[in-house]
Amino acid sequence: MCASKLDFYTNVCEDFNAYIPQAKPKIETFHPFFEDAFWEMLLNGGKRFRPKLFLAVLCAFEKNVEVVRASFPVALALEVLHTYSLIHDDLPCMDNADERRHHPTLHKTYDVTTATLVGDGLNTYAFYCIAQAPLESALKVQLIALLAQCGGIEGMLLGQALDCYFEGQALKRAQLEELHTLKTAKLIAASLKMGALIAQVYGHTPEGLPDTLFSWGLKLGLFFQVRDDIIDRTQSPQESGKSTQLDTLKNNYVNLLGLSQAQAYLQELKAYLLKTLAAFPPTLGLYLQTLLKELA
Ligand code: IPE
Ligand code: IPE
Ligand code: MG
Ligand code: MG
Ligand code: MG
Repeated sequence: MCASKLDFYTNVCEDFNAYIPQAKPKIETFHPFFEDAFWEMLLNGGKRFRPKLFLAVLCAFEKNVEVVRASFPVALALEVLHTYSLIHDDLPCMDNADERRHHPTLHKTYDVTTATLVGDGLNTYAFYCIAQAPLESALKVQLIALLAQCGGIEGMLLGQALDCYFEGQALKRAQLEELHTLKTAKLIAASLKMGALIAQVYGHTPEGLPDTLFSWGLKLGLFFQVRDDIIDRTQSPQESGKSTQLDTLKNNYVNLLGLSQAQAYLQELKAYLLKTLAAFPPTLGLYLQTLLKELA
């Protein structure tokens, strides 16, 4: 029974992966390479963690595959906005990274101007994706507002501003937690909540699910960024697919606590996530647990 429940979700995630290249927008222009540069980083892989979270919630409550597919533009919006954040994060004025998703970063393949403008374009395109999804208008306004908050000045963007401004200046632990919550956890929490908002309109969900999942997602996002801090210290670019050892002057959990304490904190967060997951509806719990295992 578990296997077939998981099969439905796994197949939807595979369909979504196949949808990404098809969703490449046509850009009519005499620019020699902008159209390809625009979608290049989306085609270069990545875990697709945020769309998978979103789809986990939706698939747990909505079994009509056509209804799930109608939300693919929303899943895409999450990945598009996240990809913009990575392209800008890698720029010389931010982390100055050469590798991303096992490929050269966009500013290495092209130039800083192109990478900056592709990032800007993906940021606005994410909202267009939601706007043209075949969903109710009032729901789309809610989704757009949440993505704008959590990807913008109440989330990722403010987190990145803090991350860059305080490079070389040690923050206190509570400030670091706030930074990580903003730069990474808010978008992760929003991915879950967006799935719940749609499931609530089109399916049957427990009372208060969007907010419950948002709170759980903030912890998941913190776990995700602590794990990422450990990857920066312990993995090679070949293993991680991105430039590593870049965080020497950054505020991160390995620099603040040391590697073994950071690893212990990661395990503590994971134990909390698994424990609290047990209170979720079983199918949702199964999907989220599967995603957590993929990060092990
Ligand atoms: C990297 O995100 C940046 C962080 C927020 C830690 P991911 O680890 O999700 O990167 P991709 O999408 O798999 O490449
Ligand atoms: C960036 O954090 C988080 C974003 C919002 C993009 P990092 O700078 O640690 O992400 P990586 O390690 O480059 O993927
Ligand atoms: Mg960074
Ligand atoms: Mg970085
Ligand atoms: Mg990192």
